[in-house]
Amino acid sequence: MVSAMTRSAVRSAFAPRMRLTLARNVSAWAKVPQGPPDAILGITEAFKADKFAEKINLGVGAYRDDAGKPFVLPSVKEAELRLLQQQLDKEYAGITGVAQFTKQAALLAYSPESPAIKEDRLVITQSISGTGALRIGGEFLAKWYPESKTIYLPTPSWANHGAVFRDSGLEVKSYRYYDKTNIALDLDGLVADLKEAPAKSIVLLHACAHNPTGVDPTPEQWQAISEVCKTKEHFIFFDMAYQGFASGNADKDAYALRYFVEQGHQVVLAQSFAKNMGLYGERVGAFSVVCESTEEKKRVDSQIKIIVRPMYSNPPVHGARLAAEILTDPALNKQWLGEVKDMADRIISMRTLLKNYLEELGSTRDWSHITSQIGMFCFTGLTPEQVDTLAKEYSVYMTRDGRVSVAGITSGNVKRLAEAIHAVTK
Ligand code: LMR
Repeated sequence: MVSAMTRSAVRSAFAPRMRLTLARNVSAWAKVPQGPPDAILGITEAFKADKFAEKINLGVGAYRDDAGKPFVLPSVKEAELRLLQQQLDKEYAGITGVAQFTKQAALLAYSPESPAIKEDRLVITQSISGTGALRIGGEFLAKWYPESKTIYLPTPSWANHGAVFRDSGLEVKSYRYYDKTNIALDLDGLVADLKEAPAKSIVLLHACAHNPTGVDPTPEQWQAISEVCKTKEHFIFFDMAYQGFASGNADKDAYALRYFVEQGHQVVLAQSFAKNMGLYGERVGAFSVVCESTEEKKRVDSQIKIIVRPMYSNPPVHGARLAAEILTDPALNKQWLGEVKDMADRIISMRTLLKNYLEELGSTRDWSHITSQIGMFCFTGLTPEQVDTLAKEYSVYMTRDGRVSVAGITSGNVKRLAEAIHAVTK
């Protein structure tokens, strides 16, 4: 046995040599370069560091109430109380998550009349919100879609799409989407690019409330897009992060997805409940695959599990239980749909206020796109330099592409925002 005295003697004898060895070693991370801040979440960091009391954050797409505070939906609070009363255990969900949640998520997106649901040929897994759903989808296509390893994204698209799909192992290319001059959909450009793309390519479509432009195709334009994709046999990946947020009506916002399925496209879908249920940090989402038969569904489901298991094993249960409670209980569901509409309506009224203030201030620019665009975002047309000035001199924060999260505008800050925008665009 070694005595205490001996131990301390041993320590002092070895200590200088240990220090020397450590000092001679170069850190394992010495060559790690500094990365740039995230294009969207980096804005929140800059906003937090700003000490000005009247600062405005219009960067990240997160809904605020009219007092500028994060908003927990009353339906979510009610669901939370009910869960608490049930004293549920904390056991693992299965690899594909809380079954009651995924069942309801599928019904919300595709509708109970969907042949894919009725014929039991839809695979669905819970995911770490919309981003996680995109990543599972990217990995699944990279591994199992035999026809192409290239995904086409609209220009512009959500700032994180490229990285998600590249990290999934897909090559990322783009198709024209936004017509800057007319602040509208560039349908001709879009159709031409999708015609040009090799047959059977993967095409990502924002199902509604296009992020960042707020410009969605009309039903007729969706039909034209479906047509060209059918002719070229392109594979459709829908990203639906804003169901209910575009129009205030969850069915209306699912038009494109449901139309494409009806037309026989074998789509995959990423869903998020971050915005429409305000479950941002709970990370509630789903990824689904329309299959041809129940037998095929079983095989695809087994491969989704094989992708998920080594990635994060199985998803967290709490947020999914909340969403399941809201989607399952008819009264709570009705209440929630009303709350989604209220959020969408508040956003629409802020668009009108902002446009009116800019006009009242005498701005000679055409701001009609503020009210014609829909969803959470307004693509203002401000240049990166103007955005930088807004942050530096007015403590108004938005992404450098000029995207404004209209959900962060309130009746209390809209006038100051209009004044700041007017000042940098005069
Ligand atoms: C956004 O576009 O601001 C949101 O989708 C939040 C995010 O994760 O980027």
